[in-house]
Amino acid sequence: MTTTKIGIIGDGRVGRALARGLKRAGREARIVGSDKPAIRDTAAWATVIITAIPFAALGDLVHTANDALDGKAVVDVTNALGVDGSLALGFTTSGAEELQKMLPRAHVVKAFNTVFARHMDTGRLGDQQLTAFVAGDDPAAKAVVLALAADIGFDAVDAGPLKNARMLEPLGVLNIQLGHAQKMGATIGFELLHS
Ligand SMILES: NC(=O)c1ccc[n+]([C@@H]2O[C@H](COP(=O)([O-])OP(=O)(O)OC[C@H]3O[C@@H](n4cnc5c(N)ncnc54)[C@H](OP(=O)(O)O)[C@@H]3O)[C@@H](O)[C@H]2O)c1
Repeated sequence: MTTTKIGIIGDGRVGRALARGLKRAGREARIVGSDKPAIRDTAAWATVIITAIPFAALGDLVHTANDALDGKAVVDVTNALGVDGSLALGFTTSGAEELQKMLPRAHVVKAFNTVFARHMDTGRLGDQQLTAFVAGDDPAAKAVVLALAADIGFDAVDAGPLKNARMLEPLGVLNIQLGHAQKMGATIGFELLHS
């Protein structure tokens, strides 16, 4: 069986939280910051790459990692925010679909963007399990990401094709709005009730 090697690009709040959660789950993960040679090495080593960087930096990552991403699952956790914190694009596309256009030979999967970083290492808010919505077009890549989310502790939900990122990205912004503008704080999260 091939081991899933997870390369996390971005060593900020999200990258570090996912690295903690994945390592706790016994997964093999490497994390790098913005050093370009280290990004290239990590992308070449990994079988799954997580983009824990600002949305505006995705073009840089594509340029830096280039064909090291070919054929691999690229997990887009970004929220496409404009300078005022509002959604930068939507309705007829999404940040994830735009990333897929930049990486036609990779398998982009949208995940984790609807969760605050502080819950990403456990998938839980206190005793409650949070939902990780996972959207993507490649069934194998999506299955791998669903398994990673479940291993961390989330209720991992298949949210359909990548174009459903058009709904997950606004949900991510709603999370931010509730947490910050509505002053609920970061101890909130979404849970899909299902039996
Ligand atoms: N924070 C949350 O609760 C949360 C929740 C859901 C989704 N997200 C999304 O997750 C992403 C990361 O958020 P974060 O909160 O972890 O941000 P963060 O703490 O500011 O960390 C960002 C990381 O990206 C790196 N970076 C910046 N520009 C880069 C570039 N051009 N190439 C490579 N790396 C670059 C930074 O490296 P340097 O420090 O060296 O610049 C840093 O390691 C964002 O897209 C955000 O919208 C965040």
